[in-house]
Formats: sequence, C-alpha cells, structure tokens
Amino acid sequence: MKLTVVGGGSTYTPELIDGFARLRDVLPITELVLTDPATDRLDLIGPLSRRIFARLGHPGRITTTTDLDAAVDGADAVLLQLRVGGQAARLQDETWPLDCGCVGQETTGAGGLAKALRTVPVVLDIAERVRRTNPDAWIIDFTNPVGIVTRALLQAGHRALGLCNVAIGLQRKFAALLGAAPADVHLGHVGLNHLTWETAVRLGGPDGEDVLPRLLADHGDTIAADLRLPRPVLTRLGVIPSYYLRYFYAHDEVVEEARTKPSRAAEVAAMEKELLSLYADPALDRKPALLARRGGAFYSEAAVDLAAALLRGAGSEHQVVNTLNNGTLPFLPDDAVVEVPATITAEGARPLPVAPVDPLFAGLMANVTAYEDLALKAALHGGRDRVFRALLAHPLVGQYAYADRLTDDLIAHNREHLTWA
Ligand code: G6P
Ligand code: MN
Repeated sequence: MKLTVVGGGSTYTPELIDGFARLRDVLPITELVLTDPATDRLDLIGPLSRRIFARLGHPGRITTTTDLDAAVDGADAVLLQLRVGGQAARLQDETWPLDCGCVGQETTGAGGLAKALRTVPVVLDIAERVRRTNPDAWIIDFTNPVGIVTRALLQAGHRALGLCNVAIGLQRKFAALLGAAPADVHLGHVGLNHLTWETAVRLGGPDGEDVLPRLLADHGDTIAADLRLPRPVLTRLGVIPSYYLRYFYAHDEVVEEARTKPSRAAEVAAMEKELLSLYADPALDRKPALLARRGGAFYSEAAVDLAAALLRGAGSEHQVVNTLNNGTLPFLPDDAVVEVPATITAEGARPLPVAPVDPLFAGLMANVTAYEDLALKAALHGGRDRVFRALLAHPLVGQYAYADRLTDDLIAHNREHLTWA
C-alpha cells in the first residue's frame, strides 16, 4: 500500500508518522512519500520520519520528493495537509479583520475566507494531477478550511473526503472522563467543519445509551473550561459545541483578547522554529513533546482509521468525516458539505441518519453553508464582488461597511496568492 502526503514538509508530519508506525497493523503501508516544495524541510523531516519508523520497527519505505506527479503515481491514498503562504499568511488572516472589530481566525470569518481563496485553486490543481496519474486514489483532505476545500474537490468530481481532528479529540476526551474505551464512545456529532455540536454521547454503539446529560452533570466544569465558555451556557444549550463555536458565541470577547495577546500564528511560528531545530538532531527518533502543543492531536489516528476503512475494510466502521449532505440534514442543500458520523467503506462515506436538529443550531449551519457556497464561488472565479458577497453573508461580518473594508483588506494582503487580483 502506497500513501502520499502532500505538505509532507509540515512540522505536523512526525505526528502522522508516529501514528502510521504505531498503527501499522491497521494500515500496513509499504511505501510512504512525503512531497513538499520546501526541500529544506523535507531534508529534515524525511530522515526523522525514517528514524521514527526504524525505532518502532515499521518496515515501510519513506521517500521524499518535490515532484508531485512522481509522488502520487501509484498511490492508494493522498493526504493533503498543506498551507499556502505558511504561517506568515496565517498571521495576516488573524490580524487585519480585527481592525473592523471582527474575529481574525484562519478557518472562520474573513481570515478563513482569505485562506479559502488562497487554497482552493492550489488544491484543485493537485487533485487534477492526482486524477491524471492515478484516478482510483482517495484524497483525504486535512487542509483548511476543510468544509470549503472538500466542497471544491467533490464539486470537481474527485474521490475525496474531508477530515478534522475535533471529533476524535472530543471522543478521546469524553472517553477519559467517562472511564470508557474511545471505540465505545459514539458521538452524535452534527454540523459543518469547525461549526459542530455534540448532541449525544452514546456508549457501546450508535444506538447505545446517551450519556451526554450525565457527562454534563458530572464533568460540565472541565468541559466548559476546555471550551473557554461559561458552564451555564453549556447547560442552557444542552449540547456540547466545538471550541470553534466560541468565535460565534463569544465573538466580542475573543476580539478583545486578540487585541492584547500574541496571535496563534506567532506562537505557532515560534514553535515551528523550535521544532525544526529539534528535527535536525540526528539522535531524535520520536515525535517531540513540544508537538503536543499544536492543535493536531489525534490527527494521525483519525487519518489511519479513515485510510484503513477506505482501502482495506479495516478501521472503525463509523467515522466522522466531511462529505456531501445529500439529504442528511434536510434543511441544507444536497451539495453542501457536512461533518457527520458516516459508515466508511471502499465506496466512500454514507452518513448515518441524524436526529432532527434544534433551530438554534440549524440556523447557524444554514447561514454558514450559504457563506461556504459563496466563498467557493469567490475562490473559483475571483472578483471583488464575489468576495464582498461571501463576507456580507458571513454571520461574523454581515454589515456592508465591514464587508467592503474587509474585501479591500483581504485582497491587499493576499494579492500574491490571487491570480485574478
Ligand atoms: C485543530 C483543527 C485543525 C487546525 C489546528 C490548528 O487541529 O482541527 O483544523 O489546523 O487545530 O492548530 P495549530 O497548532 O496550527 O494552531
Ligand atoms: Mn480541523
């Protein structure tokens, strides 16, 4: 089995390698290719990855290349984890929206739109090259904004699924709080990527007992502290939102904090520098503890589980993925991309039925779905007016004066990445 990681020079890669090595029985990779335009990073991360495989006794071969076509040739699955413009572009996404009193974040609001506009054309070009060399390969997209990028891939007819670690992170967290095995915890997870709510936490199977009320009663303080939301808010919602909902439910508070605190991009850039110097040590043969301070916990487990289910009928039968709605959430268009638990087979994902969704959450999902549609149109066809329309539709922008100004700021800060600007 051959796997290719596009963006293999990412500092996240050792997390992925560690998972591939530990879970080799679930996903027996014989060849792993790391491809990236940054040779300096490949030269550090390739050898480190080989050392991790060697220490954990993984017999698979790891190679590195800047040649994308060669990298994907013969691959069974291609994992996308790239970041156009790197942390420097992310820093911009997190900064200029604040001037309008809007949240600056790399996956939601105006910053998320900027990232979508930079990323969609690049990912579509890569996917086209994958299809040309290798039409049967599965594309697993971890590249943000995952909802919009996955929608772009599916609309272009690619064999793709979007992946995020929020659901698996919560599954592990709840399992620990409940004293249960993670595989026994089944989430009623519903929404769009980075806009999800846990509406049930079932034990034993997707139809098992719902212990969410007990979880909130016994561990509400811990969960609220993790999400940085007041506990009474959780009690009133009766469900557990993902931490990305804080950008909506506590928007102004987040903006205030961002004005005084260093940005996440700056923190990550500093960590990346340190990680790269650690990776250069030829004695290092494991993922360093520092990597745990990045947001990608359990990303490798989720990726292995998904690839195993798609490629060899192994892994968990039900997994949370980003895929076409096709009636799963009846209040959203069929071609929307939703993030829900699904049965995964060699044919792809078949979402499990979802219980009726409270309008309190459905309204926001519908609003953001419309934004994602407009955002994708802006990413595909460009033009100031399309950017403006997407921003005006976003619930965190919404006013024409802000949308106008943010449109100008977005274009000014991203000109080098936008072919039409
Ligand atoms: C979580 C999200 C990812 C995101 C990451 C950011 O893992 O699910 O989509 O890329 O956080 O983490 P970072 O360490 O870069 O802030
Ligand atoms: Mn994510």
